[in-house]
Parts: sequence; structure tokens; C-alpha cells
Amino acid sequence: MKTTIYCFTGTGNSLKVARDIAAGLGDAEIVPMREPQPAPAAPSERVGIVFPVYMGGVPMIVGRFLDRLHEPGKYVFAVATYGGSPGSSLNEARRRLAAAGTSLGAGFGVRMPGNYTPFYDAYPKDRQEKLFAAEAGKVKAIVEAIVSGRTSPPESGNFIMNLLFSGIVHPISAPKIPASDGRFSSDAKCNGCGVCARVCPVGNITIEAGRPLWHHRCEQCLACLHWCPQTAIQSGSRTAGRRRYHHPDITLHDIMRQN
Ligand SMILES: Cc1cc2nc3c(=O)[nH]c(=O)nc-3n(C[C@H](O)[C@H](O)[C@H](O)COP(=O)(O)O)c2cc1C
Ligand code: SF4
Ligand code: SF4
Repeated sequence: MKTTIYCFTGTGNSLKVARDIAAGLGDAEIVPMREPQPAPAAPSERVGIVFPVYMGGVPMIVGRFLDRLHEPGKYVFAVATYGGSPGSSLNEARRRLAAAGTSLGAGFGVRMPGNYTPFYDAYPKDRQEKLFAAEAGKVKAIVEAIVSGRTSPPESGNFIMNLLFSGIVHPISAPKIPASDGRFSSDAKCNGCGVCARVCPVGNITIEAGRPLWHHRCEQCLACLHWCPQTAIQSGSRTAGRRRYHHPDITLHDIMRQN
């Protein structure tokens, strides 16, 4: 059975999970969820959506896609990658799909290294390795569930965290995200290479006079900050001394093709 997997990613965790699921299923195509968005109807019998959790919810670009995805009668699954908790992101996906006439068969969370460098440093390598080992086991279980067409309620975080992040932080923060790129700057290490513009999934960066300029339609995916070869992009004052992260199996070339 052919499967289309729509994927959004900043630092490659979600792309890695999408690839592993595609490999497990066979005959699966990964379609980037970037701007301009893909057509909201898949040329396949089965549909998947893979995305990172942002503030307990779905990234805005993913939400816009879910609102248009009209796939009645197909088995549809969603997978959220997250650093701490999936929150209510998969329930949000289920609600938004339902409003578009699409029934979510199952929603799975996969814990991966957190990438929100404005708040914390990259995880140490040994911690990353443990998460990658667990990811392999979780993907195996996800593939088995998909192949058998199993339906189940979306996985969710605990009640208190969902209330805090999905119920309070996400609704307050989401409208501010497009202009949140006002916190980005490039430091003296920038050599004008243009990589940041090429990895941005929404075309939010242009290079002007050899430096990136952000245009306030940001998704906060942090691809620009993490993939800059010179580590020249900072967000506020705390990221300068922090290590950058991307999934080790995903290359810059992969992200340029994806985004
Ligand atoms: C803007 C932003 C918000 C995030 N919010 C959360 C969150 O609320 N809960 C969580 O567990 N992880 C959160 N994370 C971490 C990511 O969900 C996690 O690292 C994810 O696997 C990144 O996927 P990617 O590499 O495909 O971009 C956040 C990351 C970003 C960039
Ligand atoms: S990727 Fe980094 S070095 Fe290259 S233009 Fe952007 S900020 Fe400058
Ligand atoms: S400007 Fe940077 S953080 Fe914002 S969407 Fe583009 S790559 Fe992601």
C-alpha cells in the first residue's frame, strides 16, 4: 500500500523519524511541508504527518496544512517529535483534521533531543545516543501499528503539562511567532554564505549586503540558527556560548532539499 508522509522539520529529528517510518513501511514518499505548501490531497491510500512539537502544540505551518488536508476514508496517522512532552499537539492535530473532514487514525509521540537553544544547550552526545536508540524501538512499534491499520487515541502529555503548555503558553505565544525573528542577529563570524536563507522553510531570510535579513514570517524552527556553518546566528543574548544541534543522520544537503 502506498503511503505519503508530509514532514516539517528544522533540525532533522522529524525528517529522521519520517525516513525511518518510510523505510519500515516501504513504498512511501516523504513530501516536504514548506511554503508554498503541497497540494492537500495525497496520491496514495495511506497518509502520515510528521512534525516537531512547538510550545505544546503544532507549528503554525503544520496547522495551516492540517486545516486544508481533506482525506476522507483514508488511514491517516500523525507523529510528533518532542524534547520533553508531546503536550496536546496530537489532539490538536486530530481536531484540526476533523474540521477539514479527515479522521486521524492514530497519533504517536517520539522523544528526541530538544533543539530550543534559546532556553538550553544541546544535549550531551551520550544522552542523544540513548534517545536515538529508543527512537528506533518506537518507530518499529509505530510501523507495526500503521501496517495493521490500528486506530487509537492520540498520545498525550500529562494533564498539568498539557494545561500549562498547550492550554496557556501555546495560545499566548503562537500569534507572536512570525515576528519573533526580531530576536535573531548575525555576529561578526557571518561570511554571507546564504545557507541560512536556503534552509528556511518559509523563505523568511534574504541576504542583504552580505548579511541575513529576517522578514517577520518566521516559524521559529531554528534551522537558520542550527545549520549556519559559522555558528554566526544568535537569538537574544544566551545562544552565543551554546552548542548547535542537528540530527547526525541528516545532512545540510538533506535540509536544503527538504526546506
Ligand atoms: C519553537 C520551539 C518550541 C518547542 N517547544 C517544545 C515543547 O513545547 N515541548 C517539547 O517537548 N519540545 C519542544 N521543542 C523541541 C522540539 O519539539 C524537538 O526538539 C523536535 O524533535 C525538533 O524537531 P526537528 O528537528 O524536526 O525540528 C520546541 C522546539 C522549538 C524550536
Ligand atoms: S548561514 Fe551563517 S554565515 Fe552564512 S549568511 Fe547565514 S548567518 Fe552568515
Ligand atoms: S527564519 Fe530561521 S527560525 Fe524562522 S522559519 Fe526561517 S529558518 Fe526557521
